[in-house]
Amino acid sequence: MIVRSAAINVMTAAARKAARGLLRDFGEVEQLQVSKKGPGDFVSAADHRVEKVLRQELKKARPEYGFLLEEGGVVEGIDRHNVWIIDPLDGTTNFLHGIPHFAISIGLVRDGEPIAGVVYQPLTDEMFWAEKGQGSFVNERRLRVSARRRLDESVIATGIPHHGRPEPELFLKQLARVMDATAGIRRFGSAALDLAYVAAGRYEGFWEIGLKPWDIAAGIILVREAGGYVSEIDGGHDMLSSGNVLAANDHLHLPLGSLLRSSI
Ligand code: IPD
Ligand code: CA
Ligand code: CA
Repeated sequence: MIVRSAAINVMTAAARKAARGLLRDFGEVEQLQVSKKGPGDFVSAADHRVEKVLRQELKKARPEYGFLLEEGGVVEGIDRHNVWIIDPLDGTTNFLHGIPHFAISIGLVRDGEPIAGVVYQPLTDEMFWAEKGQGSFVNERRLRVSARRRLDESVIATGIPHHGRPEPELFLKQLARVMDATAGIRRFGSAALDLAYVAAGRYEGFWEIGLKPWDIAAGIILVREAGGYVSEIDGGHDMLSSGNVLAANDHLHLPLGSLLRSSI
């Protein structure tokens, strides 16, 4: 039987509670596509509502921990070691357009290192969760990164820079290299789920630059506990600050990194 720690129980319960409203709102968004005003303000309100529920629930369980919230920013805790890093809605553009691919991401970071993470995809009811030293899971099933060793058999996910995001030229060079060497590239629009899918062995790897800590704090521990590797593209380990991420299974992290670096 899988034993979940108190922290994981708190995180998964908060995610499930917050997801109820999000699912209701997603139903509304599909209707709003055809309205004149569009669903923009409605989605932003939905996003804030999710964050409020998560914050309340986590605060109740661990009153002394701090927060880094995408919408609410930094909230200092009495305990300076433990911080919840939260993206209430990862995949906002998908949600806004009625595309069914988005998630809630909650990372617990201790002294700068992710030690527990939950990424919840409400539409598929997949609760991805991991804790340092305990493994990575989806619902009740243990996760393991994929065993593929060959780039030409691999599916790699990425994020495409948009709207003034950094370094579009570099991205195009990286894309050309990876396209040429692999079985396919996916851009599904949720970095948190991209990392969860690497942990689940659905993608062999994922890279993106210009991410924020709330996009990746939970996903990093999911991949690591599933036996994969996460670093910056140049091999550094400052992903939470730089927003530069390369995640892959244990066989392909090095070759994929070399390929991406050869684009510079
Ligand atoms: C975005 C998603 C997307 C990634 C962007 C992020 P948001 O987060 O994770 O996949 O490419 O860089 O900003 O805005 O949907 O929370
Ligand atoms: Ca995000
Ligand atoms: Ca978001």
